[in-house]
Amino acid sequence: MQSLLSINNDKFGSKFILSEDENIKKKIAKAVSTNEFIALETKPLHNIFFADINWTEEQEQSKKTGLYIKTLELPPPGRFMFKLARNWPVVNKLNKVGFSRLASKGNEQVYSTGSAIGIIVTRGGNASDFVNAGRLMQKAWLTATSLGLSVQPVAGMLFLAQRVIEKEAEPLSEKNAELVKKSYNEIRELFNIKEGTISMLLRIGYGGEPTAKSLRKNPEIKFV
Ligand SMILES: Cc1cc2nc3c(=O)[nH]c(=O)nc-3n(C[C@H](O)[C@H](O)[C@H](O)COP(=O)(O)O)c2cc1C
Repeated sequence: MQSLLSINNDKFGSKFILSEDENIKKKIAKAVSTNEFIALETKPLHNIFFADINWTEEQEQSKKTGLYIKTLELPPPGRFMFKLARNWPVVNKLNKVGFSRLASKGNEQVYSTGSAIGIIVTRGGNASDFVNAGRLMQKAWLTATSLGLSVQPVAGMLFLAQRVIEKEAEPLSEKNAELVKKSYNEIRELFNIKEGTISMLLRIGYGGEPTAKSLRKNPEIKFV
């Protein structure tokens, strides 16, 4: 059986790096949870995120895309807050008394649990590098599953960082764009990454069976 430590994709120049270090996991959790803070502070991001949520099983079955609420595994108080947060004017008001900070702190705590953090580093940041990152992610995920482990991709902050690096920070405020850059660079430093792009981050551990799974659209396969 393949171990997680032996996963790599040298042919395409991608690397999978794993850490079980408590200190690294804690700091990574703080860095990636800036995503939730920023998403709750930025109206267009908030709207995109909540438009993607499927609130009921019927919605999930008919859309077969988006984020099914049950897959977020929220405890009842979290589910209540989440429902409240879908309304931008409400969130905007609550943010004035620290809602976005509280929500990201809660996620930071969840992100810091788990046995290990794995990152995928690609050679560059072009389209083929990201396709390659996806292949390596699947390899890591399937291997983890074969070992009885669960995987949660945590990529929101990394994707925001790509936008900032590519000078497409809009609609982030200057302050939040800086925060994204700082968080991304912190992850690079923690893993001692000198070159390449961190294109995916996986939280890995013994999580048991999920409450629900997202549906996927059927593939459209064309033979040409
Ligand atoms: C590309 C990608 C990025 C994700 N990024 C995050 C993230 O930043 N934070 C988070 O809590 N979950 C993230 N998730 C996990 C989802 O919230 C959700 O738990 C998961 O997709 C649902 O499980 P399933 O798709 O296996 O059914 C991400 C999932 C994917 C596929």
